[in-house]
Amino acid sequence: MNEMTFVCKAAEVKEGGVKQVSLPAFDDEFAVYNLGGEFFVTDDMCTHGMVSLAGGDVQDGQIFCPLHGGAFDIRTGAATEHPCKVRLKTYPAELRGEDVYANLA
Ligand code: FES
Repeated sequence: MNEMTFVCKAAEVKEGGVKQVSLPAFDDEFAVYNLGGEFFVTDDMCTHGMVSLAGGDVQDGQIFCPLHGGAFDIRTGAATEHPCKVRLKTYPAELRGEDVYANLA
């Protein structure tokens, strides 16, 4: 499947911020990031524990988990800070007008 799905309105994610998004067709939530007007989408659940990353802080292109302070590179999903080791799943995203779309396959 190579379909782009509407994720949220771009205006819902402030610059340098992250927002949790639930979509009816998916069991798990997604995290949407705005890095300087460029949008990125990852799984919302930290790979270290059952915690929403959208409750964490975005710094230098990384999302810091609110529970143990581990971090991931938002663009690549790579684990960048202990104790996170397992890569975060990322999804190709793009801005279409005022809307953020992503390939969530
Ligand atoms: S649950 Fe995210 S770093 Fe531990």
